[in-house]
Amino acid sequence: MAVTGKDNKTSGTLPAYEQPSNAMIDQDHLDFEDTVNYGSFYTPDDIVDIVYDLLEKNVPDFGKYIIIDSSCGYGSFLRKPGSIGADIDEAAVRIARKRRPDCRFIHHNSLSGINRSHYDLDDEKIILVGNPPYNDTTSLVRKKMKRDSFAVAPALRKRDVGISFLLSYARLAADYICVLHPLSYLIKNANFRALNSFTCNYTLIDCIVIGSGYFSATSKMTQFPIVIALYKYEGLGMSYGHIMKYGFRTREGKIFTIGQYDWLGDYATKYPNRKHVSPDDTRALFWTMRDVNALKRSQTFMKEERYNSIRVTKEKFHYYCYADVFKDYIKHIPYYFGNCDIMLDHGKFNEIKDLFVAKSLDKYPFLRAGGDGIDNCSNVDGTIKNYFREFMGDHYVE
Ligand SMILES: C[S@@+](CC[C@H](N)C(=O)[O-])C[C@H]1O[C@@H](n2cnc3c(N)ncnc32)[C@H](O)[C@@H]1O
Repeated sequence: MAVTGKDNKTSGTLPAYEQPSNAMIDQDHLDFEDTVNYGSFYTPDDIVDIVYDLLEKNVPDFGKYIIIDSSCGYGSFLRKPGSIGADIDEAAVRIARKRRPDCRFIHHNSLSGINRSHYDLDDEKIILVGNPPYNDTTSLVRKKMKRDSFAVAPALRKRDVGISFLLSYARLAADYICVLHPLSYLIKNANFRALNSFTCNYTLIDCIVIGSGYFSATSKMTQFPIVIALYKYEGLGMSYGHIMKYGFRTREGKIFTIGQYDWLGDYATKYPNRKHVSPDDTRALFWTMRDVNALKRSQTFMKEERYNSIRVTKEKFHYYCYADVFKDYIKHIPYYFGNCDIMLDHGKFNEIKDLFVAKSLDKYPFLRAGGDGIDNCSNVDGTIKNYFREFMGDHYVE
């Protein structure tokens, strides 16, 4: 399947292939729709540097491996002579060939008929690098434009094309894989399960987390975390527990561990539950809660029931007040928790839960009709602020 694109439009004054091969050039030959459908948001050079830093630090005899990028764009990840690039976008491959005459390029769909023979490889040692496309579900505009752009081998068909790419690297039996992908592939249990044929053979051995804002065309307002991850082929692979205990390093020098937090979803439902809760038992209505970034964009309590309402019982009401107040504090939560569930310190929250309830009742007078009015709460804002400061510690964004 060829990508037609615009008429060979190139960036700046020089055609793309005449610009220095060590300088990153922005993808500029596709129209907006093809750019979205092929995920052609190219990677800045300082981010490619991180991939090579991780490889040099962790891969003994790094020079002996063949480097492959199966979604190579203009070939920015191919820094060693003899590397191999492939892309579905014929125009990109044409430009890459001119920029990297010492590398080999293939124009094909890397998610169909995946086989080493397509790269003229036998049992050589290989490292897959790159920034495969993924479905940016944070953008509703883009979601509308998405269409089935290319065939995907049945065993690799997943909701997110980036997950299919990770599975394809395992099919090629790469020795190491060092690629960018949304952190949510690892930390969301459903995604991790979808990666099963990858995670049962590969282990995360090093990584750096960056914000999606590094990619010019993605939203800077609501960034989501992208991990530059180095995986090693190891027979036993990795468990979800490994990821929960993993100390993720960010480019800004922070370290966080997902498993150290309590999650609201363990105490209160995040999704519509009308089959399980009758209208009589409903104390309030709350918007569906997917993750921190979704809460940032959504409403919290609502007056009228809708298809996506959660029916909140009296017993669980304080947890939803927590989510409501948490939304006000999202500006103090760093981007790297954007795809996590809403986190809490359950013990400390229980000690001051009345303050969260008081805060929500104050914000939404219509909630007062349901009872449990809380009187005599003093220093509500100060105490809540302290809770979030202490809870987030080093991660609290001032
Ligand atoms: C995020 S860009 C990365 C380009 C380049 N590696 C870089 O980072 O600058 C994703 C690339 O994947 C390519 N692509 C999308 N679907 C593909 C497929 N099924 N097979 C091969 N390449 C594909 C796009 O054409 C685009 O060049």
